[in-house]
Amino acid sequence: MKTRSLRIGFFLYLITYVMFILSENNSIANNFLSEIRDVSIHQDRLRFRKNLERLGEIMAYEISKTLEFEESEIRTPLQNTKVNTIQNHPILISILRAALPFYQGFSNFFDHASSGFIGAYRAKETSSLHEVNIDLDYLATPALDGKELILIDPMLATGKSFIKSVEALLQNGTPKMIHLASIIAAPEGINYIKESMSIPFKIWTCALDEKLNSKSYIIPGLGDAGDLAFGEK
Ligand code: URA
Repeated sequence: MKTRSLRIGFFLYLITYVMFILSENNSIANNFLSEIRDVSIHQDRLRFRKNLERLGEIMAYEISKTLEFEESEIRTPLQNTKVNTIQNHPILISILRAALPFYQGFSNFFDHASSGFIGAYRAKETSSLHEVNIDLDYLATPALDGKELILIDPMLATGKSFIKSVEALLQNGTPKMIHLASIIAAPEGINYIKESMSIPFKIWTCALDEKLNSKSYIIPGLGDAGDLAFGEK
């Protein structure tokens, strides 16, 4: 697929197959991002989860602009009027457990969406990006054929959780489009996704960070999103 890069709206970017970065221009999204990164307020777990949820709502709004709408006529108390509503409601799939607060934001806005869940975790931590293995231990998904699928994971680090999840999901049908939704992404993960995806997709993220460290954590990142939202395992 051809790679191109262009800025969209007030905080989106587009890279190829399409990538949107929400934090490029000033907006309230940057306040939420700044708070989830700030170690001095990380003890406020409720605020951390709320900010992930708010970023999910903002991203849902931006993704909604790319969906198909249909015109219909409804009646207000005063007269008939034409309205536009989403034609093909997206399917929301969360990669457990860190995605849950971020997912809540999508679910608040896409309130007609069906949802699915995937349990994915790093099988072992190693010093090499290519040695991070992902195990899946749970998958529950609605039918996916012809759907707009939003796959949700706040940290796009190696990209391996996303790819392993997509491979498992494709056993359950072929979506029309896969939106990979993250809050912070690393270039290494984006490259891995670009090399590995075989069907149309868009990458959405609030921030594109510098790199991965030797343990495949995103730098500067925010630490472990699952632990910050729910406590250490
Ligand atoms: N998962 C996280 O929670 N943080 C990272 O930096 C990478 C993966």
